[in-house]
Amino acid sequence: MGQLDDKTALVTGASTGIGLAIARRFAAEGATVYLTGRRKTELDAAVEAVGGRGIGIQSDVSKLDDLDRVFAEITERSGRLDIVVANAGVGGFAPLGKITEEEYERTTSINLKGTVFTVQKALPLLSSGASVILLSSSAALLGVPGLGVYAATKAAIRSLARTWAAELTDRGIRVNALTPGPVVTPGADELRAALLQTDQAPAAPTPLGRLGHPDEVAATALYLAGDQSSFTTGAELYVDGGATQL
Ligand SMILES: NC(=O)c1ccc[n+]([C@@H]2O[C@H](COP(=O)([O-])OP(=O)(O)OC[C@H]3O[C@@H](n4cnc5c(N)ncnc54)[C@H](OP(=O)(O)O)[C@@H]3O)[C@@H](O)[C@H]2O)c1
Repeated sequence: MGQLDDKTALVTGASTGIGLAIARRFAAEGATVYLTGRRKTELDAAVEAVGGRGIGIQSDVSKLDDLDRVFAEITERSGRLDIVVANAGVGGFAPLGKITEEEYERTTSINLKGTVFTVQKALPLLSSGASVILLSSSAALLGVPGLGVYAATKAAIRSLARTWAAELTDRGIRVNALTPGPVVTPGADELRAALLQTDQAPAAPTPLGRLGHPDEVAATALYLAGDQSSFTTGAELYVDGGATQL
């Protein structure tokens, strides 16, 4: 018996990092998992890693036509969704004074617009009792130099979790924010390398003295996705080694 037997889940941005760890964990607990991402080779490898319960749909969350294609395929194959993890996200190092329009557009269109329209377009498919999980970031609370635009999108994500949780109570749908601190992934490793070039990088990555592992975030995603968290909505759960708390 898995914790997510007979459930259908969508994890956006699931070809690497945290999204891949979540997709693997959900599938191991019995869910059928749709994975998305833009790069075909990485997505195919992720579907292979997830095993027989993984289905890849190559797509970009910032393109509404792509999202329509994703939900049309899920409708045709599964007819419903019980879990949506809006995970696809990017971050660039851009201190005030060096923010380009291109970087602003890239970050907001994937992190914010992508999340808004992923969840909005998922609505008709969401079952009663469904769980929606939005990926925020400890950067939203910490004031990390160089991460202003990224952090602002992630603060917005936390706010959306509250509003949508309130809007969806009548359908029995729960919406929560999941907030990682620094976790070892391809995207974050690149960003951390840029931060380490500055003299403002923290001495220790977290109060626990280490970076997190994607599986540690996936464990909390599993809690939020399933019945163990049935009385939790509009909340924010931190998986950050104490970074925002101590
Ligand atoms: N790792 C951390 O330290 C950390 C901390 C706090 C919050 N987070 C958040 O956690 C989430 C996952 O981050 P991560 O560290 O696992 O990043 P990652 O290793 O860079 O993985 C990001 C995934 O999202 C996909 N993606 C990016 N843009 C996309 C788009 N427009 N449409 C669809 N898929 C897209 C990427 O594949 P393609 O490039 O092929 O599309 C990749 O599979 C993000 O929202 C991030 O902000 C991470």
